[in-house]
Amino acid sequence: MKQYNIVVAGTGYVGLVTGVCLAEKGHKVTCVDVNQEKIDYMKKGKSPIYEKGLEELMMKNKARLDYTTDAYNAYKNADVIFIGVGTPEKKDGSANLKYVYEVAKEISQSIQKDCIVVLKSTVPIGTNKKIEKFINSNTKNNVKVELVSNPEFLSQGTAVRDTLHAQRIVIGVKSKNAEKIMREVYDAFGIEYVITDRESAEMIKYASNDFLALKISYINEIANLCEIVGANITDVAKGMGLDSRIGNKFLNAGIGYGGSCFPKDTKALNWLGNYYDYELKTIKAAIEVNENQKIKLIKKARKYYETFEGLNVAVLGLAFKPNTDDLRDAPSLDCMPILLDDGAKVKAYDPVAESNYKKIYPTEIEYCKSVEDTLKDADICFIFTEWDFVKNMDIDLFEKLMKKPIILDGRNCFDTNEFKNKKVIYESIGRKCVNNYIK
Ligand code: UDX
Repeated sequence: MKQYNIVVAGTGYVGLVTGVCLAEKGHKVTCVDVNQEKIDYMKKGKSPIYEKGLEELMMKNKARLDYTTDAYNAYKNADVIFIGVGTPEKKDGSANLKYVYEVAKEISQSIQKDCIVVLKSTVPIGTNKKIEKFINSNTKNNVKVELVSNPEFLSQGTAVRDTLHAQRIVIGVKSKNAEKIMREVYDAFGIEYVITDRESAEMIKYASNDFLALKISYINEIANLCEIVGANITDVAKGMGLDSRIGNKFLNAGIGYGGSCFPKDTKALNWLGNYYDYELKTIKAAIEVNENQKIKLIKKARKYYETFEGLNVAVLGLAFKPNTDDLRDAPSLDCMPILLDDGAKVKAYDPVAESNYKKIYPTEIEYCKSVEDTLKDADICFIFTEWDFVKNMDIDLFEKLMKKPIILDGRNCFDTNEFKNKKVIYESIGRKCVNNYIK
């Protein structure tokens, strides 16, 4: 295997995981970030993000891993520079390329030999070409870069596994030389390549993410109709998923998708379509359905309480999905202001996302240390995340501890049959409501 001197810009989910996995496969990797505190933390072998297996790999490969804020010296002699910085959503829905350009500028000022710059961040179609032109017209030392589009498909919580055992490695290149280098970089991964031009690689990323978002919005609409006509979404999804053309993944109905990718990538592609005067009707619908779905539990709750004023509200799960502390576009964040504005007394439990939630709601919510504490004397319970602690909890606790056992499960954590003989109201998504509670 050929060992490359690789630099990764950005130490978020994409950058750090990519860097650490490339080191695991034998390359020498320097991770660059602007945040000195974060760099010092990583130098101790600690991961600033909650990601399974990451710290172990950081420790295991520490001889091949370095962390620095000194971008100039890091880029100077790199063979390959990966850009893994964020491309957050702008107010108009388009992708903000500010951080990508900041890195591009630094690269142009630092490099002293020709190198490959790999854009991993999700960027609008045409960006690789633009960044290449930008760097090459600003270099100081008569050197040249070639941009390669190499989107990632990692999910939070399983990012290390998704990187080491990806289902494909997409590489968008302009030249045979860049293709050869990229094949050598990923040689030890032993994963199938999709080699294409840069525009198609950029599109593969958006098209994949938006398709999955669309699949979720589709199953959520079917679930909503199931509730109206008395069908059961769990059985419907099973019946659909056994058709291999449909597949059984991403058919879990719930309170919609959140996270760092689907919400922003659907909006960005929609924006791009509009920019070129092409209306992406399916993507538009996926976005609209998701916006409504995120507050579906609130709408259901209004059947029982016109206002939440003075009510004890229990919340189980705050993160946008289990096994992450990330709160970006978490449905809980759409519902929480409604509950608090109404004057509800909210108690919440999410052992992992709690510290990030506290940054948004430091005092407005009482953070609990157990399911029991959260449910005690509650008038209603919202389940926003399907954490194992929820799925594995003793469901008798609802009846035992709550003042009024009204359970609104946004992630279908339990089988409705389990509540058959319980004195509770159990509402979920796309399934019949169980109502054995006599007021
Ligand atoms: C996603 C993509 O899966 C990944 O390939 C891409 O690189 C980044 O975006 P991530 O956001 O980490 O990853 O999580 P994912 O597991 O895909 O879930 C996203 C959201 O969809 C979550 O809010 C989840 O609850 C929701 N979801 C997922 C559903 O509502 N139903 C499903 O069946 C699957």
